[in-house]
Amino acid sequence: MITSSAPGKIYLFGEHAVVYGENAICCAIELRTHVQAEFNDHIEINSVLGRSGLNFEKHPYVSAAIERMKEFAPVDGVKININSELPVGSGLGSSAALTVSTIQALNHLFHCGLSLEQIADLGYNVEWDVQGNASPTDTYVSTMGGVFMLPSRRKLELNDCGIVIGDTKKNSSTKKLVTNVAELKNRFPEIVTSILSTIGKITYCGEYSVCNGDYESIGKLMNINQGLLDSIGVGSLELSQLIYSARSKGAYGAKLTGAGGGGCMIALADASKTVDVSDAIKSAGGVPITTNITDKGVVVE
Ligand code: MEV
Repeated sequence: MITSSAPGKIYLFGEHAVVYGENAICCAIELRTHVQAEFNDHIEINSVLGRSGLNFEKHPYVSAAIERMKEFAPVDGVKININSELPVGSGLGSSAALTVSTIQALNHLFHCGLSLEQIADLGYNVEWDVQGNASPTDTYVSTMGGVFMLPSRRKLELNDCGIVIGDTKKNSSTKKLVTNVAELKNRFPEIVTSILSTIGKITYCGEYSVCNGDYESIGKLMNINQGLLDSIGVGSLELSQLIYSARSKGAYGAKLTGAGGGGCMIALADASKTVDVSDAIKSAGGVPITTNITDKGVVVE
């Protein structure tokens, strides 16, 4: 039996702007999706959603990953068990972590010899197969682990910072939010283009602060980034409630992460403040998860 796991991700800066070629910083986090794979006489997939065979409705990412892996090995009889620490559909890259972890488990079980680059590319293809659109970022960061400047994929170092995630438990559609921003940009091209370009500049400044471990500046830049995300319509009342409550308890900064609309926010906080920030998020109606950034990408455990 092979057990693999892969991390989720957060955007420190730059979501939405990155769609238009601006800089963004994306970080793998310690919350992981674990996949067990063993030989079986037929295909069986088990998760909290129940048991199925190859089933593109119940288990689309694992089913599409199995189909893609058939290019490298006869993946006809395998039992897959999924166990995830990541909330689904809330902007933390849960589908990428599941996809990448499944590919790595099958890669080892069937001795395919795929490299990490190949796994990231295949993962991107699987997300395309399922979603009809996808950004390569989530699968890349989940495969490699660490902190990356995008779109260049330059690796950065950021250690020892407390991240408190607040889940609004409100699902949102990335496709719809990206479309809404595109429509706003068509309607007010000069204004929205300059907002997106300012987000790119925030990321650029943020890179300097990340490299210097200057959490106070990172936090201030996160707050400015949040204001601009709100201005292009991807915030929400629920996100703002969690963001302001985290800031009021001494977080360096707080912003939404991912597409917005609902999903999750993140707060950067000193280790001495993470409990207070987490309690504040809970009191404001969110589900807090304290985590950290990780260098550990997809691994066989
Ligand atoms: C979604 O996690 C991040 C967006 O920038 C979309 C994308 O980059 O594909 C909103």
